Amino acid sequence: MKRVKISDILREPNLGVDIVVKGWIRAFRSNRFIQLNDGSTINTIQAVIDFEQFDESVLKKITTGAAVGLRGILVESQGAGQSVELQVSEIEIIGEANPDDVQKTVMQPKKHSLEFLREQAHLRFRTNTFGAVFRIRHAVSFAIHEFFNNRGFYYLHTPIITGSDAEGAGEMFRVTTLDPKNPPLNEDGSVNYKEDFFGKPVNLTVSGQLEGELAALALGQIYTFGPTFRAENSNTSRHLAEFWMIEPEVAFNDIHDNMDLAEDMLKYICSYVMTHFADDLKFLSDREATEQQSKPQNERNELSLIERLQFVTSNDFKRITYTEAIDILRNSNHYKKKKFQYEVDWGTDLQSEHERYLVEKEFKRPVIISDYPASFKAFYMRRNDHSEPGKETVAAMDILFPGIGEMIGGSQREERLDVLKEKFAAFQIPEEDLWWYIDTRRFGSVPHSGFGLGFERMVMFVTGMSNIRDVIPFPRTPQNAEF
Ligand code: 4AD
Ligand code: MG
Repeated sequence: MKRVKISDILREPNLGVDIVVKGWIRAFRSNRFIQLNDGSTINTIQAVIDFEQFDESVLKKITTGAAVGLRGILVESQGAGQSVELQVSEIEIIGEANPDDVQKTVMQPKKHSLEFLREQAHLRFRTNTFGAVFRIRHAVSFAIHEFFNNRGFYYLHTPIITGSDAEGAGEMFRVTTLDPKNPPLNEDGSVNYKEDFFGKPVNLTVSGQLEGELAALALGQIYTFGPTFRAENSNTSRHLAEFWMIEPEVAFNDIHDNMDLAEDMLKYICSYVMTHFADDLKFLSDREATEQQSKPQNERNELSLIERLQFVTSNDFKRITYTEAIDILRNSNHYKKKKFQYEVDWGTDLQSEHERYLVEKEFKRPVIISDYPASFKAFYMRRNDHSEPGKETVAAMDILFPGIGEMIGGSQREERLDVLKEKFAAFQIPEEDLWWYIDTRRFGSVPHSGFGLGFERMVMFVTGMSNIRDVIPFPRTPQNAEF
C-alpha cells in the first residue's frame, strides 16, 4: 500500500479509510499511543495500538527515534489534543533505535540548548524547532524564486570559482591543486601559479555581482542565488564563512528603483511564509515567546515573531541618507550621554551599535540608509554627481533590520567608463584583472542597480532564531567545518 503523508491526512482527513503512514516515533505512551512525525508538517499523527494484538518482540521496538510503517483506519479521536487518530492494524519496524543511545541525543524529548543541538546537527532535524526552521528556510528560498520569476527575472548561475575579489575586502579562500609542502616557485621565491590548475590564482567567490552585471546588461533583469564564501575571522551570531546570497541586477534601474525592488522582495517573503507555513511559524513564535519570559523585561521583544512579520508587510521602510543618519545619531541623547562605544563622525562607517540604535530605538522598523561616503564602499558603486568636495558619496544602500542589522547591501553601479577607470586607479585594482567588467562600459553602457540579500540573515528574521548557525543545516565558521 502506498504511504500517505501526515500533512495530507491532517489537511483533509478521510475517516474510515485504510491507510499506511511511515515516519519516526516521537513518543510512545502507555503502551498504546504513538506520536508519529514524517517531516511533512510540524504536527504528529496519533496512532493507537491494542498491545494485546501485537507480539512483545514488536512492541519492544516501538521506541522514540525508531522508524515505523503503520497501517490502519483513520477515525475520529476519542482523546483531546487531536481531531483524528489512526487505529493500527499492522506495524512494520523499518529502522530500530536503541533507547539507551537515544537518551544521549537531541531526540530525547526534553528541552535541549541550541549549542547542544548544534553539536548534533545530523540529528537536530528530528526536533520540532529545527524541523520548523528548515521547512521555513525552504519556504524563503521558494518565495524568492517565485518573486523574481513573477517579475520576469532570469535566474543566472554565476561561477563559484573565480579570479576576482568583487568586494575588494581580500577575505577569500584560495582554491588550488598545488602541493602546499612543495609548490612550484618562481625565481624570486614566490609561488608559480602558472603551474596551478587554472594557470593563475583563483578563489571561492565572495559575490556573483560582477558576473551578474554582465548578464543584466543584455538580459535586462537577472538574479543569482548561490553560495558565497568569506574568510573573515568574525565569530559572531550573524557571520558565516559559507552563506547563500541572492543578487538581483537590473538594467535601467536607479538607486530608488533598487530600494523599491528590495522592499517589495522582503515583504513578499514575509507574506509567503505567513500564508503557506503558518503552523511552523506559530510554533516558532510561541517558542520565542516562552524563551522571552526568562529574559528581563527591558530585553524582551515588543512584538511577537508573527507580529514582526506582519509589521514588515504592512509598513513602509524608513529611508534616510547616511548624512541624515549621522545627524540623528549625533543629536541623540544616547550620543550625548556617551553611550556609544564608537565615535560617530561623518566619513567613518556605522558600527552595529549605531545601526541598532537607528532601527530599534529611533525608527522601530526596517531602515534603508543610502548615499554613503565613497571612502569605505566598494569600487563599483556609482559616484554621486552632487557630492560636496572632500565629501564624495556613492549611490549605495544598506537595509537594516531590527535584531539583525544589515540584511541587504546594494547600490547603483558606476556605468561611466571614465569614472570607473578613475575608481580602478584609486582602488589600485589592475584594469587587466577585470578587463571584461570594464569592457561592458564601452558597448551600450546603461545605468543599472542591484543588491545582495544575505539569505541566512533573512531566515533568521523569519524564524526568530538569534544565531545564524541555527538557520543553515551545517554551519561553516572559523575552526568549524563538522559534518
Ligand atoms: O554587503 P555585501 O558584502 O554586498 C555584496 O556582496 C554585494 N556584491 C551585493 C550586491 O550589490 N550585489 O553582502 C550582501 C549581504 C549582506 O548585507 C549580508 O546580509 C550578507 O550578504 N552577508 C553575510 N551573511 C552571512 N555571513 C557573512 N559573513 C556575510 N557577509 C555578508
Ligand atoms: Mg555590506
